[in-house]
Amino acid sequence: MMVNQRLDLLTDYPFQRLRDLLGDAPAGGPKRAEPISMALGEPQLGAPPLLMQALTAAAGDFGRYPAVNGTPGLRRAIAEWLDRRYGLGAGQGIDPDLEVIPLNGTREGLFALAQIAVPAVRAATRPLVLTPNPFYQCYLGAATMAGAETRLIPAIRESGFLPDLDSLDAETLSRAALMYLCSPGNPQGAIADRAYLTRAVDLAKANDFVLALDECYAEIYDEAPPVGGLEVAAATPDRFRNVVVFHSLSKRSSAPGLRSGFMAGDPEMVKRFAKLRSFGGAPLPGPIAAASEALWRDEAHVEETRRHYRALFDLADDILGNRPGYYRPAGGFFVWLDVGDGAAFAHRAWTEAGVRVLPGGYLAREEPDGSNPGERYVRLALVQDHATTGEALKRLAALMDS
Ligand SMILES: Cc1ncc(COP(=O)(O)O)c(C=O)c1O
Repeated sequence: MMVNQRLDLLTDYPFQRLRDLLGDAPAGGPKRAEPISMALGEPQLGAPPLLMQALTAAAGDFGRYPAVNGTPGLRRAIAEWLDRRYGLGAGQGIDPDLEVIPLNGTREGLFALAQIAVPAVRAATRPLVLTPNPFYQCYLGAATMAGAETRLIPAIRESGFLPDLDSLDAETLSRAALMYLCSPGNPQGAIADRAYLTRAVDLAKANDFVLALDECYAEIYDEAPPVGGLEVAAATPDRFRNVVVFHSLSKRSSAPGLRSGFMAGDPEMVKRFAKLRSFGGAPLPGPIAAASEALWRDEAHVEETRRHYRALFDLADDILGNRPGYYRPAGGFFVWLDVGDGAAFAHRAWTEAGVRVLPGGYLAREEPDGSNPGERYVRLALVQDHATTGEALKRLAALMDS
């Protein structure tokens, strides 16, 4: 049978690799204690009640085909949120109809972007997609399925856990079609500052590639709100050209099952994405759009959410804080813990402590020199309640000390 072999270039998804690593091994840990998962970044906090209220009020819309670019109300709510959050107003505000498109979860847009941004050329030198290493797996899947060559840029301790933009040579920049960046980063939690984002935006414009800023964790921060790609781009002469940002309600509003996010920025990318979706995608159902609109208009639950994660990191500081492999991230809800050998530690964490954690090497790929920048680490998702998280961290601390 003829199939698209590009799919075979992708390894199994990290969670499948974790299942393979653990096999049938029974969970260890204290007698009669429940196993605890810190592997999946799925917030367990629960979405605010206003989600269901708005969803039920709009339930009649399930009887109608939704418009390809979402409801005007949702696009406006997103544009107003962006204006408020990033101070885009005063003549620089984003156009809700041309520069915003709601997504069925951010992953949809992150993947589709490579399909519309990577030129379909059959030349000796394929176009490049640049991604941090480690990275959110969608970037690599999207680049591979688009037929691009992926260029990994290490995002390691020595580079502040962000890709070193000064390491990009002229050949790389001239072949780049798309660059993914993530701030706050998954898994390391580093936040790109204004100077860093300005440099990234300048590079994209100067070399005419698309800069995709994955800002899914933008609302989960410890101290100061992260700077956004749009506020940096808004100050440039051609504004959002070459720049798109991605946001999600999965983390901000603890609603990963809602499947709701958006892409905003370069109107050409928004238009092309809508065209691709009209042939092969699914617009946001009306009631989901109504619920999303209510969530983007509310900040009270987001403040509550930030307080929740800060308290969990206080707990992590108390329990893991004096171990050399631990640091408190500036954003996101992951602990990126240096344990020496991530896969071996993940196996022990399950079999000896009954805690499921993700080996960091599964979130990265080998560099040309054969090293894997995630190999020494495990990723702990602080997504459970306070008591469960405390219990899991104590079991892991004991394991590290044993
Ligand atoms: C860095 C990053 N980007 C994007 C996503 C996708 O989020 P969504 O649920 O909106 O598809 C995730 C989800 O875990 C993520 O960690």
